[in-house]
Amino acid sequence: MCGIVGYVGGDEALPVLLDGMRKLEYRGYDSAGVAVVADGDIGVVRKAGHLQALVDELGATSLPGSLGIGHTRWATHGAPTDLNAHPHRDCSGKVAVVHNGIIENHDSIRAGLRSQGHKLTSDTDTEVVAHLIESILAAESCSLREAVQGAIEKLEGAFALVCVAAGEPDCIVAARQEAPIIVGAADGMGIVASGIPALLAYTRNVTPLDDRQIAEVRAGSVRIFDFEGREQSVETVMVEWSLDAAEKGGYEDFMLKEIFEQPAALRDTMRERFRSLGKVTLDEVHWSTEELARITKIVVVACGTSYHAGMMAKHSIEHWTRIPVELDLASEFRYRDPVLDEHSLVIGIAQSGETADTLAAIRFARRMGAKVVAVTNVVGSSITRDADAILFTHAGPEIAVAGTKTFLAQLAALNILALYLAQERGSMPPAKIAETIDAMRALPEQVDEVLAAQGEINRAAKRYAGARDFLYIGRGVGMTVAMEGALKLKEISYIHAEGYAAGELKHGAIALVEPGVPVVAILTGVSPLYDKMLANVEEVRARGAETILVAHPGDERARSLANELFEVPITKPLLTPVLDTVTLQLLAYFIAKEKGLSPDKPRNLAKSVTVE
Ligand code: F6R
Repeated sequence: MCGIVGYVGGDEALPVLLDGMRKLEYRGYDSAGVAVVADGDIGVVRKAGHLQALVDELGATSLPGSLGIGHTRWATHGAPTDLNAHPHRDCSGKVAVVHNGIIENHDSIRAGLRSQGHKLTSDTDTEVVAHLIESILAAESCSLREAVQGAIEKLEGAFALVCVAAGEPDCIVAARQEAPIIVGAADGMGIVASGIPALLAYTRNVTPLDDRQIAEVRAGSVRIFDFEGREQSVETVMVEWSLDAAEKGGYEDFMLKEIFEQPAALRDTMRERFRSLGKVTLDEVHWSTEELARITKIVVVACGTSYHAGMMAKHSIEHWTRIPVELDLASEFRYRDPVLDEHSLVIGIAQSGETADTLAAIRFARRMGAKVVAVTNVVGSSITRDADAILFTHAGPEIAVAGTKTFLAQLAALNILALYLAQERGSMPPAKIAETIDAMRALPEQVDEVLAAQGEINRAAKRYAGARDFLYIGRGVGMTVAMEGALKLKEISYIHAEGYAAGELKHGAIALVEPGVPVVAILTGVSPLYDKMLANVEEVRARGAETILVAHPGDERARSLANELFEVPITKPLLTPVLDTVTLQLLAYFIAKEKGLSPDKPRNLAKSVTVE
């Protein structure tokens, strides 16, 4: 949540900041602001609304200076107004701060600062930090980094803070406690950001700060300290994402581009793991076959779309390995007193690698002695420090808020892990494993076939964009698809949608069905349950629903019951979510477009949810 960028170097800072903020706007877009240090002063411009509102406000103002910070906000404390937009300054206007996170004790700090005569002008939790730094700089002769260190001692909560001071026009100070911040330096410049896409144009060797670290970033150099002021070694990770991947590349929206990048995301996620014929190679999982054999249960924890990936994984893991799988929302997991021990394997899934609840869940699991595997798309993200093994998805940067290509890549990674466990534990015959690998390898081309139907799906979207409620129903892995399809629709089109187990419908939700309500039903991959699914479709039709069916080619029974029919190629039943989901992503996307909404930036949401 919140996009942060800082730049120091030989060029004008403002264009670099705006470019980085544009790349990180998916992290928050209710207001934006910049601060540039020059001539012993800090120029600040802030504006409520999307980044473009700030650009319009800046107009011809160039805010000259070669050191600055910028912020795109996702509001936690204080409404999204000009006054609450970051950067925030101290009384003198000589210190400016941007922040992502929540400072939990800001009320008491604010009261203390006011009693000392500080004038705070916003409703945010962030502003107190600028004033704390001001107090320390006024009282002691110290550097900005030391003042930030002193201020942080008083803060409770989670934060990524980036600070500048007019008195130190060559240095940016960044600090991290449980919220991501990355720093980097190249020839003659230093850069700070809350997400990798903002740094890609300048360097691929980046240093994600660890918890309780402070960075001092200057042109060409980075120094890292802990919260006690002890200098630390600077460790860099190499980012392979291409610069183009963070651009729209001719597509109208990032979401559409990312939907179309899914065949590549699948190929890239599978390539190395399927390099030996008929076998799964997972270099990332270092446990011995004996240790893997001792696993007695698996718990999957995740949020949102990643949770739906976990729901799908429960089916494949249980079917292929016979290990029982529990599935938990990460926000609930550690509060329910779960039963875990050293024979439990916990799989935490987070495309961003920064979701606060998922991080807390896997830390809890490790404290309980469980083995933890993280599935993530972001190199250097927080989850990579908290897990015993990391399974990267190779989807490239995902900019649109709604998860699409990272979801498909997660499905691939989780199926790979399930197959690997089955292989190592001997729970699946090698020939079956080889056959499943072949089926997975065919998926990218099959996704292309689904994508080719975009025109048809767009036409159907126009027909249903006016609906108030949608129901999505499925059985088995089809239920996962229904849940994910409904989430995609509601988050980007603001239409109420529910994903339901088809068999559960008549226990309550069928009361919502009335003439005109569209019901999306998943008829693929359910062979033993196919007739039951069709019966459910008949039931909703009998109550006047319009049916949108996802079925395999040549399914005439489905066609006879469909107001709209979308065909997806045949694959193994447990792999069908990969193909079905693409249809429903396109449906949600085109409905949002038909309603004139921006699918990339749905209201109230942020890409990376770093607060609980
Ligand atoms: C929905 C969506 C969110 C995320 C959720 C978890 O399209 O993208 O529901 O899936 O916020 O995010 P990660 O995977 O980063 O933990």
